[in-house]
Amino acid sequence: MSKTDLSVEESLVEIKTLSKLESLLEEAASILPLANRAKDIVHGEGKQDADIMLIGEAPGYHEALERRPFVGRSGQLLRKTLLEINCPAEMVFISNIIKVRPPNNRDPLPKEILAFKPFLDKEIEIIKPKLIITLGRFSMAKFLEGVKISQIHGRLHKLRWQDQDLFVLPMYHPAAALRSSRVKKSFIDDFKKINKIMNWIDSQQETLELKKQLREELF
Ligand code: URA
Repeated sequence: MSKTDLSVEESLVEIKTLSKLESLLEEAASILPLANRAKDIVHGEGKQDADIMLIGEAPGYHEALERRPFVGRSGQLLRKTLLEINCPAEMVFISNIIKVRPPNNRDPLPKEILAFKPFLDKEIEIIKPKLIITLGRFSMAKFLEGVKISQIHGRLHKLRWQDQDLFVLPMYHPAAALRSSRVKKSFIDDFKKINKIMNWIDSQQETLELKKQLREELF
């Protein structure tokens, strides 16, 4: 459906959702441990009602400069791989665990992850993706604890998170794929599973709706 096919009511919902996301910027500025100016924040970007949300770690040099997630070398690999499975970046929502570049690209600190948690949670709440793809160990740890990415990458997990059912697919970080040809192969192979996984998630949803309908008709 194109934007012009939206009814007035639907357009209004879109605009409201958009402004909710925009307002996160101001909220974030007041609690940042790394930066105190809204201009340092790299927000998530993409389709507001995307079926798929990808969550990385933190902006790097190029992301901080352009104030867009995944636009550097690892971002180029990510966007190219998405295109190759017919799922261009404009169709998904791309975000990060923390939204300011850590000094010298160091790992995010637990207190920084905690400080940004409400904003990432709000993005998930607004977008309501059917599938969350975690990129790397920091975003995987948001949903799955005590596991190794090398053991569970590319395997779909259904879990209960903040009172909602979520499908989470842990993947290697594209930066790790750039460092090792073995990881790069796994990264690409895992991405090739996404369309099948989305079809399966949709069929699960349809079965649930059918069951609900049947229950309403019978009882
Ligand atoms: N790596 C990430 O985890 N996120 C970005 O936005 C860029 C590089």
